[in-house]
Amino acid sequence: MTGLTHPLATVPQDELVIRAEADPHRPRFHFVSPAGWLNDPNGVSQWNGTYHLFYQYNPEGAFHHRILWGHATSTDLVNWTDRPVALEPSEGPDSPDADGCWSGVLVNDGGTPTLVYSGRHGERELPCVAVGSPDLLTWTKAPENPVIAAPPAGVDVTAYRDHCVWREGSSWRQLVGSGIRGRGGTAFLYESADLRTWDYIGPLFIGDAASVDPAAADWEGTMWECVDLFRAGPGSLGDGGGPSDDVLVFSAWDDGDTRHPLYWTGRYSGDSFEPAALHRLDYGGRHFYAPQSFIDDAGRRVMFGWLQEGRTDEAMVEAGWSGVMSLPRVATLDDQGELAFTPVPEVETLRRDHVRLDPQGVAGSEVLAEVAGNQLDLELDVELEPGSVFRLGILGSSADSGAALEGTAPGSAEETVIEVSRGTGSDSWLRLDRSRSSLDSSVDAEERSGPVILAAGRLHLRVLVDRSAVEIFANGKALTARVYPTLGGTSVRFAAAGSVRLLQLDAWRMEGIFSGPRPLFP
Ligand code: FRU
Repeated sequence: MTGLTHPLATVPQDELVIRAEADPHRPRFHFVSPAGWLNDPNGVSQWNGTYHLFYQYNPEGAFHHRILWGHATSTDLVNWTDRPVALEPSEGPDSPDADGCWSGVLVNDGGTPTLVYSGRHGERELPCVAVGSPDLLTWTKAPENPVIAAPPAGVDVTAYRDHCVWREGSSWRQLVGSGIRGRGGTAFLYESADLRTWDYIGPLFIGDAASVDPAAADWEGTMWECVDLFRAGPGSLGDGGGPSDDVLVFSAWDDGDTRHPLYWTGRYSGDSFEPAALHRLDYGGRHFYAPQSFIDDAGRRVMFGWLQEGRTDEAMVEAGWSGVMSLPRVATLDDQGELAFTPVPEVETLRRDHVRLDPQGVAGSEVLAEVAGNQLDLELDVELEPGSVFRLGILGSSADSGAALEGTAPGSAEETVIEVSRGTGSDSWLRLDRSRSSLDSSVDAEERSGPVILAAGRLHLRVLVDRSAVEIFANGKALTARVYPTLGGTSVRFAAAGSVRLLQLDAWRMEGIFSGPRPLFP
């Protein structure tokens, strides 16, 4: 363990866990690091039946610096056991990862667990490899590191890091996320026989950073972080497939600014990717960032993402922890050829104290006396007539009943409002209104929204509330966000404008997954 070296390391390391545990905003049924900083999911996989979740970890404090790979395992994707740190920077002027072990993936190299990650040295990152013991607990870095010595020659890259590695025929293929200055994001394609020596093939596909306004929710950014290429349609990657059977997920980045996760649908064949359409992956933007996915033994495409904080750097440092891992979600292709998401059903094992509400019309605003809490799973079926709006208020403080939902007097109440509106045409919208989520004016309260399809006016809405973490799924579209209520509100209520019918509501309190403080270095 190192001493306090970074200017932001103002909280003694032995106090981090205590502070983190005491924070009312810390989620209880999402995976979080023992304390300190967490960002991207890495090496997500199922190996001999056990699920592995590695993550970008700084146990020195709740800030991004000298990143290690934290590690946790699970047999059910819900309950996690902390494992020893898997990777940490190697000291030395020639060490390619002296300043951090950045994001990467796990592959099965003929039975040998192997990590491909970005070693950071100074201001640059290069591909590195580490080989695991059969239990995946001990990792040895390859002597060949870095396994690629530099970004492609003659290309002016905005950045170069993060990996997607897969087996194709008798060779390995790898994508490294990047961007070409003045043009757009890209992923460079490489090939290898042994994961150690890589031949550069070329850019898989180059985006266009000038295609839309940089302020747009689907701006591609100037660099693509955490590229993740997979077959979403039938068959497997590299076997041809239909014109939009393959998906290239990336996180749009620009000069240090982590914007949002996007994906192309298209067809990967030969050495390139023929794009069909660009889509937003999660309407929460930076609150669901750097996703990574894998196929589990049941054949599901399971995805994790990093729920970035919406509070200031100082507030994170003070809290002693930062960053939440999303619940694992299953991705499928829907009728429109877009990704649809739903939390893995295993999450339902945490449900307690079931409440069911009978079908009813929703008029005005109504507090649900039977349902309250800040660790909840809510599942609703609603029918909306054209032009009507359904609102679900969560984490409400009762002080000023009705005000927030109806948008009248501000009062002192806090409430987070999820709204689904059905247009008079095909334009329906999911919106998260955080303007009254918190009396703390320093937290991110920006509205988040995106289109949803309400076939015949039907909405299936799932909302997972875990203190500061909120994951919303509306007919398969995800919106993930963070909120920081200060009043400890737990009320839930509905409101409607126009004609809205609640067909069914099920609500549960959610059990926590950790029973107490966890050591920083398990
Ligand atoms: C994405 C990212 C990656 C990088 C890692 C560093 O959030 O910036 O591009 O590898 O985080 O922690």
